[in-house]
Amino acid sequence: MKKLIPSYVRVPLIFAFVFGALEYFIDSGDRPAFIKFPMVGLFLVVFLFLLVAIEIVISAIDKVTYHMLTDAQRQQLKEAQSVSFTESKWIQGLMKSMTRSKAIEQEADVMLEHDYDGIKELDNVLPPWWVYLFYITIIFSIVYLVRFHVMGDYNQAQEFDQEVAAAKLEIEKNQLIAPKEEITLDKVTMLTDAESLAKGKEIFANACAACHKADGGGVVGPNLTDEYWINGGGIKNVFKLIAEGSKNNPTMVGWAKTLGTKEVQKVASYVMSLQGTKPAGAKAPEGEKWVEEAAPKTEAAPVADSTSVVQKQ
Ligand code: HEC
Repeated sequence: MKKLIPSYVRVPLIFAFVFGALEYFIDSGDRPAFIKFPMVGLFLVVFLFLLVAIEIVISAIDKVTYHMLTDAQRQQLKEAQSVSFTESKWIQGLMKSMTRSKAIEQEADVMLEHDYDGIKELDNVLPPWWVYLFYITIIFSIVYLVRFHVMGDYNQAQEFDQEVAAAKLEIEKNQLIAPKEEITLDKVTMLTDAESLAKGKEIFANACAACHKADGGGVVGPNLTDEYWINGGGIKNVFKLIAEGSKNNPTMVGWAKTLGTKEVQKVASYVMSLQGTKPAGAKAPEGEKWVEEAAPKTEAAPVADSTSVVQKQ
């Protein structure tokens, strides 16, 4: 029989297989196993070396034996090697035993007398491969019957519940590793729930009160409780200014990096909630009076995309 796979294919193939198996079975986190564990790398090098060595030895032995053959034996070998894989005895034998088909010359033996308008029928045996499959299904059905209907192993409803539970775990895991949602300028809305405002108040007290006073009345920074704004009022302008900082005055830095946009949204909402609180000793108004222009109208008229409403700058 011909050699199926030449050694220059066989060696890389076996090596790739072992390499892949090692990477698959060794848990090495985000780095490949052969880098994380030097022993694995060493093993692979030795393994490759051995593979090549074995191939060299085998081909050497082949050559030596060939030289020791007589001419007649060489001829035999040549003939044996010229037989292709599908013509080999082993495959032929396997095909025969699995199909038990009759050769065309012997078809007369199994010909039935049935004749339908010239279409005739052969009485072939069922091919063994088919019969074996049939036996397997019978064995399977018995095992299945005993396991699920006699012993009462889990049923479909339980299986469903298990899979749902597993899927829920998976979802939770994904949510833990998913990046936190970012709030962008066009998505930002004013939060009104007590929890967010309380968090906003806490952030304000820690990070902003030094310049704006705890009540927002203003010290270094302007009064945040009146309707007058240097950089424009409304949740979007206030969010933008807190996130990015003021272009007019570098004292007011951007907070998006330090706090994250979600927290900026909370503190911006808290700042908005201070509107009209008129704390004692507040700074005089700075900037222009802000009139929320589109707000009442947009609420009444249904707009397909509420974020497309142009804010007064
Ligand atoms: C180091 C002092 C300082 C700190 C700390 C500070 N600010 Fe300011 N802030 C200012 C100054 C100064 C301005 C005025 C900027 C300008 O003129 O554009 C200002 C402006 C503002 C404005 C816009 C006011 C307007 O009229 O346009 C808002 C809103 C604001 N700050 C919110 C905050 C929040 C929220 C924090 C905390 C996360 C904070 N600031 C922290 C100094 C500060």
